[in-house]
Amino acid sequence: MDLEVMNGLLRPKSIAVIGASNTEGKIGYSVVRSLIEGGYEGPVYPINPKSNEIQGFKAYKSVLDVPGEIDAAAIVVPAKFVPQVTRECGEKGVKGLIVIASGFSEIGRADLETQTVEIAHEYGMRVLGPNIVGILSNSDKCNASFAPFLPLPGKAALVSQSGALFIAMDASTYIRRVGFDKMISIGNMSDVNFGDTVSWLDQDESTGCISLYIEGLKDGRRFMENALTASKPIIALKSGTSAHGAAAAASHTGSLAGSGKVYDAAFEQAGVVRASDLNNLFDRTLAMSLQPPMQGDSLLIVTNGGGVGVLATDSAERYGIPLRFAPEDVQAELRKYMPEFGSARNPVDLTGMAGRDWYQVSVQYSFAHDWVDGLVVLYCETAMTDPQDIAEGIKAAVDGSGVTDKPIAVSFVGGERSEAAMRWLVENGIPAYNEPDTAVNAMASLREYARNQNAAQSFVRNEDVDEAAARAVIANVRSEGDRAMTEIESKAIFEAYGLPVAHTRLATTEDEAVAKAVAANGPVVLKIVSPDILHKSDAGGVKVNVEGEEAVRKYFREILANAKAYKPDADIHGIAVQEMAPWGTEVILGSVNDATFGPAVMFGLGGIFVEILKDVTFRVAPVSPEQSLKMLSDINGAPILEGARGETPKDRKALAEVLSRYSQMIDDLGDEILETDANPVIVYDEGDGVCIVDARIILKAE
Ligand code: ACO
Repeated sequence: MDLEVMNGLLRPKSIAVIGASNTEGKIGYSVVRSLIEGGYEGPVYPINPKSNEIQGFKAYKSVLDVPGEIDAAAIVVPAKFVPQVTRECGEKGVKGLIVIASGFSEIGRADLETQTVEIAHEYGMRVLGPNIVGILSNSDKCNASFAPFLPLPGKAALVSQSGALFIAMDASTYIRRVGFDKMISIGNMSDVNFGDTVSWLDQDESTGCISLYIEGLKDGRRFMENALTASKPIIALKSGTSAHGAAAAASHTGSLAGSGKVYDAAFEQAGVVRASDLNNLFDRTLAMSLQPPMQGDSLLIVTNGGGVGVLATDSAERYGIPLRFAPEDVQAELRKYMPEFGSARNPVDLTGMAGRDWYQVSVQYSFAHDWVDGLVVLYCETAMTDPQDIAEGIKAAVDGSGVTDKPIAVSFVGGERSEAAMRWLVENGIPAYNEPDTAVNAMASLREYARNQNAAQSFVRNEDVDEAAARAVIANVRSEGDRAMTEIESKAIFEAYGLPVAHTRLATTEDEAVAKAVAANGPVVLKIVSPDILHKSDAGGVKVNVEGEEAVRKYFREILANAKAYKPDADIHGIAVQEMAPWGTEVILGSVNDATFGPAVMFGLGGIFVEILKDVTFRVAPVSPEQSLKMLSDINGAPILEGARGETPKDRKALAEVLSRYSQMIDDLGDEILETDANPVIVYDEGDGVCIVDARIILKAE
């Protein structure tokens, strides 16, 4: 990132408005008006071929006529003129273009967009947009947009792909009391994308937390890298679905990827916290912009009402931070500040008798206690207490505790006095909400952030793989035209990556099949091998538990006959002789090549769990064995592998290593492979390993 150029674009010290107008109602009028009303202190240069003066500023026919330097140019001329004015900006030495104009790729004119970016890059300029509202920065008093005003000042930053939502969110900051320093409308993302803005905001001293409204990312991998390296919390509201429509998917795994599962995984892997809707984005942003992450799981709730305490307890469980009873020393101390009928366990119920003093001492003591990782303080408005007094007590307690590395969130339930007290709390750096559930959810976002940060793992490549051998198999398949890869070929690639496949060899004659079955030293499975028959069982092309020469000969002939009857013109390579894998727990591994994030690996329990319950989890590849272990715990059926109901635990360690290698395979070969399935994979008891029984690779179309 060229910081000077990005600073010029997003914190411009001088601005030209190309297409500035004196005609009220035009966007070129509004942008100049916004700069004036926002209090922008740098020079403003309106550009208009017909006017000498625009809204009190001297106007110029072209940027080339402007005497001073120009950091950013807001472009509000019709799209067809944009490439030409871009060149003029380049000649002038402008750093960044804020292309507000619409009429580009969103209506099929990607050519105009590409042309604009190419010209801009020739001159080292960056392009924000097109099809955007503009940029807002409170610390620069800069409203270079057609949004009517700067947002409520604060520490958050918003990057929005939707223009309308950008304007709406700007206005709602005043009602919701969530403060933003910067808002960036990102539109078509022809050049500057989410990853760029995240990196830039990360180094921006006025930004404390980065909120994103995302419809679709363009370069998912780069976004992940930028997000992962950012030191500030990032929270994303993602709308829409991924390009992998379930119906279009070729493999089992593809159909399970469905809408957004890979996005979910990618955000988690990149340490990005999610918001479920607009309300949630605001609520979580408020907490993230004011409070530090919650580094452990011990959440303490202090309340004056049992009802809100129970509601918050339910919420805590729902959002993944279930309450635990406070240790004895904490309980003993807190019991001093409540009547006998109070409770010091957790939630700490100070009872309706609690006034400012009890709140203040309990909050100060518990916030400073080592056991407490985060505090939620609840208050129900009572006749005996003044909400403002309670609010000031809480604030005094936080200050008095000296704690700055733990989060606190508050919820007051009551009327106007409570609303006013919460507003005061927010202005004093303590997030406050009128629902206990919202306060707990906000706290959970701070916990999720800390967890994601700690879970970030770097992948160490397995060096004992033979990528060249895998690519040779692919090249051989490709050399035979547009045909599917057989199980034997798929397994050869798996083996090149050190994956434990069930020993499977091709027999082209009956005698060969007998010899291979004898070598297997036990019962075998016979399967048809043909690129034209992928659903082998449907074609009568599979026989399990085949033992003895006679049976091998009989079923060899039978399978061939079935296959020929099923598809007379099928290209039959022969019959696979595979050792029978002993019974164990069935799981499925798979992969898709996501349009946004590239290769992503999937894990789930096999059989009914995958067919009906779709109990699967995804990660963008590659994943380390540690992250793979986390995947095994992610699914609802996780206890089955962990040894539920007295069963011996399964070999999760071996499975995690296999998953990690698998992810390396699909990542290395991501330019060739579209989707894969390893189904079933049998997992044995702890220490006994894993066996991939069937394998399928679907190549990308050439
Ligand atoms: N250099 C400088 N000024 C020029 C040039 C030029 N090359 N060409 C024209 N102008 C002047 C015009 O003379 C006019 O000024 P005037 O009012 O004094 O005559 C001004 O620039 C604007 O040009 P118009 O042709 O009048 O264009 P208009 O204002 O109607 O529309 C606009 C331009 C706003 C860029 C329009 O094409 C557009 O894209 N609108 C949609 C923008 C938008 O909504 N973006 C956000 C999307 S997100 C969301 O929907 C919220």
